Amino acid sequence: MCGIVGYIGKEKCISKIISGLESLEYRGYDSAGIAYVKNNTVIIKKEQGRIANLKENINLEEESYMGIGHTRWATHGKPCQINSHPHKVGKVTVVHNGIIENYESLKKELSEYEWVSETDSEVVAALIDKLYREDNDMVKLLSKLKDYLVGSYALGIIIDGDDKLYAIRKDSPLIIGVSENGNFIASDVPAILEYTNLYYLILNDEYAVLSRDDVVIYDKDGNISTKNLLTFEGNREAAMKNGYEHFMLKEIYEQPKVIMDTIKEYISDLDTLKEKMSGLEKYEEIDIVGCGSAYHVGLVGKSLIEKYGHVRVNVDIASEYRYSDHIYKKNHLILVISQSGETADTLAVLRKAKEDGIDTLAIVNVVGSSIAREADRVLYIKAGVEIAVATTKAYSCQLMMLSMIALYLGIINGMLNESIFEEYKKLDKIITDILNDTSDTKSVAEIIYKNKDIFFLGRKLDYALSMEASLKLKEVSYLHSEAYAAGELKHGTISLIETGTPVISLITEDDIRLKTLSNVKEVCARGALSVIITNEEVLDKEVYDKLILIPKLHDLVGSVLVIIKCQLIAYYVAKLNGCDIDKPRNLAKSVTVE
Ligand code: F6R
Repeated sequence: MCGIVGYIGKEKCISKIISGLESLEYRGYDSAGIAYVKNNTVIIKKEQGRIANLKENINLEEESYMGIGHTRWATHGKPCQINSHPHKVGKVTVVHNGIIENYESLKKELSEYEWVSETDSEVVAALIDKLYREDNDMVKLLSKLKDYLVGSYALGIIIDGDDKLYAIRKDSPLIIGVSENGNFIASDVPAILEYTNLYYLILNDEYAVLSRDDVVIYDKDGNISTKNLLTFEGNREAAMKNGYEHFMLKEIYEQPKVIMDTIKEYISDLDTLKEKMSGLEKYEEIDIVGCGSAYHVGLVGKSLIEKYGHVRVNVDIASEYRYSDHIYKKNHLILVISQSGETADTLAVLRKAKEDGIDTLAIVNVVGSSIAREADRVLYIKAGVEIAVATTKAYSCQLMMLSMIALYLGIINGMLNESIFEEYKKLDKIITDILNDTSDTKSVAEIIYKNKDIFFLGRKLDYALSMEASLKLKEVSYLHSEAYAAGELKHGTISLIETGTPVISLITEDDIRLKTLSNVKEVCARGALSVIITNEEVLDKEVYDKLILIPKLHDLVGSVLVIIKCQLIAYYVAKLNGCDIDKPRNLAKSVTVE
């Protein structure tokens, strides 16, 4: 996922492109770049890291009236300056959002070119350069580009010596903004809202030619299209929410895609899984360390890795672990988990581990973050930018990455085989079905939102999941909530259960199903309002007031379904209570102090 912006008009372009990119930073931010035309020459500036880095190194007021910019989320080639966009080959400069699947074969066909970067996008620039040299006709060229490219693309294109800006799309978003003083291309509406709220939506295989005071759009058959000019009524933030009321809800709904983005390579075939995870089988013991939700997901990881990988796993909170004494095995791994890759305590654990000479592995979302840079080895999740302070999609992607580790170790030790890949491949469809019917989670929210105290119960894996379910609820809705190991409640805390106290029990593991149900009976006997989230019908109707049923899948695959239901309950409870869902009080997205 990347963001592109372009401008051509009567006003200077650089500050417009940069501010557009800033509002697209949610699409990716491991590097950024801009190409602009000055005195008939294309000038390219690009930097690794945030757009702020680029901004420091350019003059926003330079005399240029046409340019294209890009903020990158690395797909082909690591995040670095050379792989950043724009890419220039011959007379052609491009910014690209998407993935060109046939770039390897194109590269062979374009053997006369020398490659500077590792990207698929540079190959597109070369292809356009070659086609352009044949008859110098960009409109004709764009009409046949789809015959050459397999994959997804939104492209912004500048040609040396030409005073027009070109754009085309297939399966990657693209809009064209129009204003009195000039015209824009962008991946998303927020990029243009500072200057105009009038835009055209470009559909697959459509392309456009932009000049200072005109926009010509062509349909997929090459005819000039008379599209409706749309008006965006909201503000920038509303635009970034894509119609969702809150970022948290948007991010919950992104989960089918980002989970698949995270795991798809690993489950494509056995050789790829082995290649990507190779070496992890040598560890006798693993310490998983993180903060908050990252710690909770580590607890899920422990359950899965111990069960299938047969490796001992300890899980600790980073702020505790960093000041504790540790006994390391000869082959010991410290696995740190962090969405932001900047959490101070987690980073300190990583640095201490390196000082102690222990191997480190990081599961991280933000490409190029401190933890990602400093760990010996990184497994990136592909959650994309998470804006809501309460993590949802990143937690789920972390869980699935831990599932990939357990899967790999389980295959190596013969406990699992590749037939399970098929189950993983169905996961996005199953999550989509869950997200399409939220009546069950809404109705649970309606019966619990006025309570002060809420309890989550579970055993083993379900206990680990209930820790995160409880955190999600309390942080966004400000209700007091606690997660308890189901068998432990009677050792004290059960005194808090009274008539109407909500108890949400997670029951997905067959071997302890009946044990947890007995504990549910204990709280029901004390008047609890019982909600059960499970993957099997519960025959005894006396033990619940509401039942949420999820599909029954292998626990390596299906655990994430439980948490998605709990995220939705937390969201709807917070909404009913009128809370500031995306920015709960006292919290920060990235905790860079200890
Ligand atoms: C809770 C939440 C936090 C983070 C924690 C660690 O919803 O988001 O508990 O999980 O602050 O942050 P990262 O993963 O960035 O290290």
